[in-house]
Amino acid sequence: MNAFSYKNKELHAEQIPVRVLVETHGTPLYIYSHTHLVDQYRALSEAMAAINPFIFYAVKANTNMAVIQAFAQQGAGADVVSGGELYRARRAGVDASKIVFAGVGKSVAEIEYALQEDILYFTVESEPELERISASAQRLGKIGRIAIRVNPDVDPKTHKYTSTGKKENKFGVDLERAVKAYEHAASLPGLEITGVHMHLGSPLMTTAPYVEALEKVRPLCDTLKTRYPSFKHIDIGGGLGINYRSNQNAPTPTEFAEAVVPPLKKLGLTVGIEPGRFLTGNGGILVTRIEYVKQNAFKKFIVADAAMNDLIRPSLYEAYHEVLPVQQSPEMVFGDLVGPICESGDFFAVDRELPDVCQGDLVAIMSAGAYGFVMASNYNSRPHAAEVMVNGTQSECVRKRQTREDLVKGETLPEWM
Ligand SMILES: Cc1ncc(COP(=O)(O)O)c(C=O)c1O
Repeated sequence: MNAFSYKNKELHAEQIPVRVLVETHGTPLYIYSHTHLVDQYRALSEAMAAINPFIFYAVKANTNMAVIQAFAQQGAGADVVSGGELYRARRAGVDASKIVFAGVGKSVAEIEYALQEDILYFTVESEPELERISASAQRLGKIGRIAIRVNPDVDPKTHKYTSTGKKENKFGVDLERAVKAYEHAASLPGLEITGVHMHLGSPLMTTAPYVEALEKVRPLCDTLKTRYPSFKHIDIGGGLGINYRSNQNAPTPTEFAEAVVPPLKKLGLTVGIEPGRFLTGNGGILVTRIEYVKQNAFKKFIVADAAMNDLIRPSLYEAYHEVLPVQQSPEMVFGDLVGPICESGDFFAVDRELPDVCQGDLVAIMSAGAYGFVMASNYNSRPHAAEVMVNGTQSECVRKRQTREDLVKGETLPEWM
């Protein structure tokens, strides 16, 4: 199903006109399609059925609790990267036994929180982290289950900021050092070696990097299987791409499964995957109202009421997002779609054919369901947008728009000033 489509020339979120949602909730507004989330999850799980993987939803892609719950209700676990994400996942109903915890900088407090919750395992990114988990586990009388994240030095052919599995990246332990790291883990009290982890980057638009990385980690898996009876699991991370443009060809779940299932089967381990973007990216849009259309000497600027603080991907990664008018019209104009923030980097589209909209019109910035709201800030003291989830003809505000009072919450003026 296409979650967002035109009916009678009006953009709809499932069965509801986007205009109607805006009338109730205002702009900027994130809208998510529950049906899309569930469909994506099921498509991936069915494609991979031959190896029945654990699907850990990478919560970082979209941490709204309603989104996390949508996947939890399908049986998903969660991949978290902070104590805050762990808290959200638990609050949204994810069983601790289905939660894995990655990230290069886990604090003692975060590790101890995860141990108390008794999560499935830590994705360990360094030897010092092994020592920290061991010490915390001993202090609490717990066992820290671990999978070491190895860095297979494979080029995922994506933006340099979102490439994570190359040797110059901060993530994981070099493949060459992995055996030593496992030996170190085995020598520490309070740890149980359960598996190995890798994550190459995001978004991956072909399956080749996964296949190359699996080939590279295979000898390591063979060694670990013979050495450690508790070693039973491989987690291949997330990264599965989506189409941001109509001419893109991200691997379908079937193509992904065809590429990775055979090498995974050969490993004889249980398998985990951590999709984020694939599950949520095309399940969300950011709707914004046009405040001004201005013509400068060189070009036209369409000024929206959403900004880089709402969706930073274009500014941060020069990411492409399709822009559609909420009221369908064939007229196009060349220019930039920008926000009101005082930065030249505050843009959604630069030098593009855009809908020829006027002041007051609504446009939808597509494919905003992953790494959208989660990266929002209050820069320029702009309140966070509201988030709405739609399912067929039903909708619900799943996060209220921030108020001006919210902006100053927690701040104090010193009495001595
Ligand atoms: C360890 C890990 N797993 C999974 C993901 C999710 O990636 P994606 O949203 O591209 O599937 C990330 C993204 O940064 C990650 O770092």
